[in-house]
Amino acid sequence: MTRALRRLATVFTTPLLPEDYASLLDPLRGRELRGRVETVERHDGFTTIGIKPGPGLSPHFHAGQFIGVGLQVQGRFVWRSYSLTSAPGEGSSLLTISIKPVPDGLFSQKLATSAQPGQLIRLTAPSGNFYLPVPLPKKAVFLTAGAGITPVVSMLRWLDSDHSAGDWPDAVHIHSERAAAPSEPYGPELQKLAERAPKYRLEHWDSRERGRLNVDAIRELVPDIDQCAIYACGPSELLDAVSEAWPQTVTEKFFSPLDSAGTSGGEIEFGDTGVQCESNGTTTILEAGEAAGLNMVHGCRMGICRTCVSTVESGVAVDLRDGTNYGEGEHVRTCVSVPSGYLKIRAGQH
Ligand code: FES
Repeated sequence: MTRALRRLATVFTTPLLPEDYASLLDPLRGRELRGRVETVERHDGFTTIGIKPGPGLSPHFHAGQFIGVGLQVQGRFVWRSYSLTSAPGEGSSLLTISIKPVPDGLFSQKLATSAQPGQLIRLTAPSGNFYLPVPLPKKAVFLTAGAGITPVVSMLRWLDSDHSAGDWPDAVHIHSERAAAPSEPYGPELQKLAERAPKYRLEHWDSRERGRLNVDAIRELVPDIDQCAIYACGPSELLDAVSEAWPQTVTEKFFSPLDSAGTSGGEIEFGDTGVQCESNGTTTILEAGEAAGLNMVHGCRMGICRTCVSTVESGVAVDLRDGTNYGEGEHVRTCVSVPSGYLKIRAGQH
């Protein structure tokens, strides 16, 4: 809809927006980005969900990027990020994500067990810097552990579907998991890929028998790693060790409030709006404000875009990603921060 048409339509739809009426006719249309679950495949390791993106959500992305998924969990709206496992331009209009439920992970358990075709979910646009450059590097090493395999699956599918065998980088993929092979469905798929793609080598690291994947073992498996582009996705201990050994490493780690459960919490007062609420230390300032009825400015909801940055007026906010404290006059990303005791914050609203 052009801007002029939209202004005209708004005259007739006020106090609602034209999108509110559009969503009555087509539930995929609305103020927010939405998608409809089209397929659900449950394996021992992962639940894979195919999502048809609604209007406004571009199907274009770089292999390795993630999308945000929003769900109501225990009466409040919660967001998490999931790597896309489909490859861009694969011929399918579906975006796929794979969820590995984590123990006590309310969100992942709910999404993995309750997703069903026809369900509408809220989404954010594909985002993130974890993707291969064009032109491709000559040599690449992929280091993954557990669910960290998912963005690399997208990269490998993209290499496989859009490149001839000769165009591939010389690629070594070391995957670590507490199992004899990567989880289904990716173990069998990648094994087959390794058999037919001459430049792709898959090394599985069974961490039950060999302990945690470490820098010495990686160097032994890839003696020329110093000359390689490196992409690593997995737990922070692995990413920290790899980044220290090879600073050129591109890493991907998703923020999860569960990691920091119980570190903080307290009362939040939102500037002069008169709104006050509590955060238990896992509910971010952004989520708490929204639950209290504020329409707070935000973008990626995962600490990247800085759209949600707000000023601390008094008290202390803690950034859950690294535990940094922010006090009076300092700027904090509300989507990844919680109060530590009483906090007054100047929150931007739409
Ligand atoms: S919403 Fe993007 S950094 Fe907070």
